[in-house]
Amino acid sequence: MQTIDKKSTKKAWANAIAQPATEFPLTQLPILSGKIPEGLRGTLYRNGPARLERGNKRVGHWFDGDGAILAVNFTDAGATGVYRYVQTAEYQAETQADRYLYGVYGYNAPGPIWENWNRQMKNSANTSVLALPDKLLALWEATHPYALDLQTLETQGLDDLGGLDKGIPYSAHYKRDPHTGEIFNFGVSIGLSVNLNLFKSDRTGKIIQKNAFKLDRYSIIHDFVLTQKYLVFFVPPMGFKILSVLLGLSSFSESLLWKPQLGTQILIFDRENLSLVSRGETEPWFHWHFGNGYEEQDGTVILDVVKYSDFDQTNEFLREFASGETHTVAKGTLWQVRLNPQTGKVIGVQEVVNRKCEFPVVPQAQVGQPWHHTYISLLQQGVDIDKEWFGAIARFDYQTATLTEADLGTNRYGSEPIHAQDSQNPQQGWVVTVVYDGNTHHSEVWVFDGDRLNEEPVCKLGLPSVIPHGFHGTWKPA
Ligand SMILES: [Fe+2]
Repeated sequence: MQTIDKKSTKKAWANAIAQPATEFPLTQLPILSGKIPEGLRGTLYRNGPARLERGNKRVGHWFDGDGAILAVNFTDAGATGVYRYVQTAEYQAETQADRYLYGVYGYNAPGPIWENWNRQMKNSANTSVLALPDKLLALWEATHPYALDLQTLETQGLDDLGGLDKGIPYSAHYKRDPHTGEIFNFGVSIGLSVNLNLFKSDRTGKIIQKNAFKLDRYSIIHDFVLTQKYLVFFVPPMGFKILSVLLGLSSFSESLLWKPQLGTQILIFDRENLSLVSRGETEPWFHWHFGNGYEEQDGTVILDVVKYSDFDQTNEFLREFASGETHTVAKGTLWQVRLNPQTGKVIGVQEVVNRKCEFPVVPQAQVGQPWHHTYISLLQQGVDIDKEWFGAIARFDYQTATLTEADLGTNRYGSEPIHAQDSQNPQQGWVVTVVYDGNTHHSEVWVFDGDRLNEEPVCKLGLPSVIPHGFHGTWKPA
């Protein structure tokens, strides 16, 4: 555990990422309090950067850490867990060499500039997971995902979903239609042009339709919205110094430009044939994540999004995060947006939660459908916004405009709140979050009643090792 000296402004969250995470094999998890709900049967999968240093070198950005997957199985015989790094080819090469060999988002490959020209990036496989019937995909933004065994998390290799062209990315924020089982996703590729590649897969993951749309700018497109008829993309106003990256003069992250004068572009595609329906523009903002979206009876699309006033501050905060000490105020808050999909025109933009939050999640059964509750990770009340990490989870209720909060306690930090539907009662949902307790330097799995976040968790499970703060996960029902 890293000690915190008096001059440092480090907070307790930093200890969770101070050391590379330790894997563990399939292990029975102790129940620390409460009991596992009878209708909570399935597996929680989570991904995140688990190793942020190697050979005494620290990564340049939180996004650069090597991905490791946590699986927690809830069964009639209790809970088991397994935690494994994704054994990408680059991870194995760096393990062998015991030093960094590749550039990633936040730093270049070591060595002279001429050796870095157009050098391959490391697949960090650290952003999210897609649970398919016969495999788990570890997703990343810049190329193909890696396939893993659903039970053992053993890495099987790069996966093309039966239709990804070489090097084309398959992004982290796929959307699965709860009725048809179709899986929609995208990937932004940079070649002679910048393309937004769109994919539709059947329920097994196999790509059955694709299209490529030429963008007029390079931008960070990290997420999108699926509705009953559309795929909705908001393209932040950005640019990219591509030569600078190709020549190895700056990292990918350093080469991104915030260009508010361009405005946020709106692109709406027909989900049946993946063709463009409309294009619009609205005020400049940056976002990583949407919560959800749907169409009202009059055709208006309603969606929610965690919105930032610009890109530079949130990117800088996430860069600092890897060092364990942050200074930048980057306040993303939850907004609701209404737009006309036929014209691409925004009708209204309204803030609904005016506190720093991230990782908006809705129940899987409501993706692309009318919904009432968005779950979020939230900063605790009264803490330093520039220095702290999310110590609460919450549920925003759109019908009553109220926020129900689970404050996890001093020096405790949660992960993205994942909703799991009860297997016996579809009205009942559970919210599962991985908590790092900075008081004891342990990680635990906390299960809340989805309707009662302000009450004690119904169950707490112990984990054998510290799980570093991560990005995204999923719930796979048994
Ligand atoms: Fe994300």
